[in-house]
Amino acid sequence: MTTRPLDGPGVHLLNHVEFVYAPGDRALVRAFLEALGLRVLDPQTDPTPPELGPAAGPYLIVYLAEGDDDLIDNVVYASEARPEQWALESALRERIAAEPELQSLCATHQAAYAERPQAMTHVGLAYPSTTEVKAAMARLAEHEALGERLTLSDVYEPGGPGSVDDRVTQAFVHTDLLSVGLLLGGQQFELQVRHDDRRGSRA
Ligand SMILES: [Fe+2]
Repeated sequence: MTTRPLDGPGVHLLNHVEFVYAPGDRALVRAFLEALGLRVLDPQTDPTPPELGPAAGPYLIVYLAEGDDDLIDNVVYASEARPEQWALESALRERIAAEPELQSLCATHQAAYAERPQAMTHVGLAYPSTTEVKAAMARLAEHEALGERLTLSDVYEPGGPGSVDDRVTQAFVHTDLLSVGLLLGGQQFELQVRHDDRRGSRA
């Protein structure tokens, strides 16, 4: 069970993130999230706990902690983009495809994720050990179906090449499979291990 330290006025908790994916990408999104090491429950295909109810159908439910079944805290949801979003994104993609300047700007924006991932937008996931981060990055790299949908960084370890912060191990994956905003810009995730005295991790 997730600890919920909402023990006083002014205390807040980052409790869930709601992602969207493009029509047709549900299975690949599940594969991606599982390769990250997360447990995914699909109410459309998996046995589901009774408290979910039929309203859960559109969502992939992603538990961040092994053995956790909390539907409210420390959880991620992913569902197909609403028609309004998909219509906007489809129109934008058509404009970009017809405009070399916009294509160039998009390519430069994408390249920035590979060049300096720490400085680009992302959602951070805490891992208990560098070993687990490396295992997740290896699963992502070796997953054939995910291949061209991902851009993977190196694993940056404290004091090592590319490291910008000795308090953490960091690795980044950018994907166009899902997003917390427009899918057009994709979504970057940081896989992080905390090494300072508040880490609570194994290595
Ligand atoms: Fe970060």
